[in-house]
Amino acid sequence: MNKEAIIGVLGAGSMGSGIAQIGATQQHNVVLVDLNSEALAKAEKSLNKILARLVEKEKIDEATAAAIIGRIKFSENINDFADCGVVIEAIVENVDIKRKVFAQLETIVNDKCILASNTSSLSIASIAASCNNSERVIGIHFFNPAPLMPLVEIIPAVQTSDATTTTARALIDGWKKVTVQTKDTPGFIVNRVARPFYGEALRIYEEGVADFATIDWAMTELAGFRMGPFTLMDYIGNDVNYTVTETVFAAFYFDPRYKPSLTQKRHSEAGWYGRKSGRGYFDYSENAINLEPNKDEVLGKQIYKRILAMLINEAVDALFLNIASKEDIDLAMTKGVNYPKGLLAWADEVGLDNVLAKLEDLFNEYGEDRYRPSPLLRRMVKEGKAFYVN
Ligand code: NAI
Repeated sequence: MNKEAIIGVLGAGSMGSGIAQIGATQQHNVVLVDLNSEALAKAEKSLNKILARLVEKEKIDEATAAAIIGRIKFSENINDFADCGVVIEAIVENVDIKRKVFAQLETIVNDKCILASNTSSLSIASIAASCNNSERVIGIHFFNPAPLMPLVEIIPAVQTSDATTTTARALIDGWKKVTVQTKDTPGFIVNRVARPFYGEALRIYEEGVADFATIDWAMTELAGFRMGPFTLMDYIGNDVNYTVTETVFAAFYFDPRYKPSLTQKRHSEAGWYGRKSGRGYFDYSENAINLEPNKDEVLGKQIYKRILAMLINEAVDALFLNIASKEDIDLAMTKGVNYPKGLLAWADEVGLDNVLAKLEDLFNEYGEDRYRPSPLLRRMVKEGKAFYVN
């Protein structure tokens, strides 16, 4: 798909307006449609503000900013998608609404137009099934904020043709994004593999092993993550993060590995969403005094090794189930959620036998299926293998 292709974006919320900004920055004409005129006006205002800030920081000049905004047509009329090469949908996360919208889109666009969804949790197969030509439907999953986060997950459904996948991936690669291809399974790569970062941290807190500040200190200072789990959950919003966990848990037929946490549920119910509400696990109000971490290295190592073993196990199991290639699983976590290292490369570094031993200790101690090691991890340890070396 060349630069002449018109990019359609449906839904002018935080994701849709970000995707429109990327398309227009990449020289495409973009049609951004939302049924809500207020949402459209808000998107236009916020895009103008973002571009003005880029001019201020001297990242782009004024003429470029004007050209970018000039390439975006803000519209309330879905029929304006008629000449698009691709339409990327970023409306409300509801499968029934998305299915209706895709069926309608198919009656508007030309035969060659690719129809993509930015859904973070719904089945692409189910959305594709609403179209007569389901071969042209695919998942193109950006991360928030879309213009800044390099990763995009490309998710072909069982119905998607190879030609659609190749064209979609090449288009997004051409936008200087890092693409990874993943199977159409709950949470795709990132939202599946990252679950223990939150879930195991919450569990450690619930057992009384350490408080929020200490767990965050262990994960940032000792393990090298940019943000600790509790700071990150407060940043994402406990309501949003809890809902993703609950959705993934149900979608995996209630596999205990993905079990949500009552602590997070209660924080969400209390309205303690995090930064946006002024209080979450930490207090964000002015002059607030938050507890200092207990910087006991032995305790810190115990915490981070437990969470890291769970994360690595999740990454290994995703590879075992052919969700994506090992390179893509590692890229997804470093480029989508800023992990300091790819989890499979990290596994090589700490030794697969050490990871397995940690998981077996946990499994023996708790007797819970949550801690079962991936069969691939067991097999590789038995055969003395590593992911990238030997
Ligand atoms: P949002 O709530 O900010 O924006 C959704 C927009 O869609 C609203 O402006 C609404 O007016 C519009 N809309 C709703 N139904 C519509 C329809 N039938 N036709 C046209 N416009 C309609 O939502 P957000 O956060 O931008 O998310 C959009 C999609 O992207 C969801 O599927 C979400 O799961 C996914 N996503 C969200 C991420 C995030 O961090 N917010 C990250 C990656 C994916």
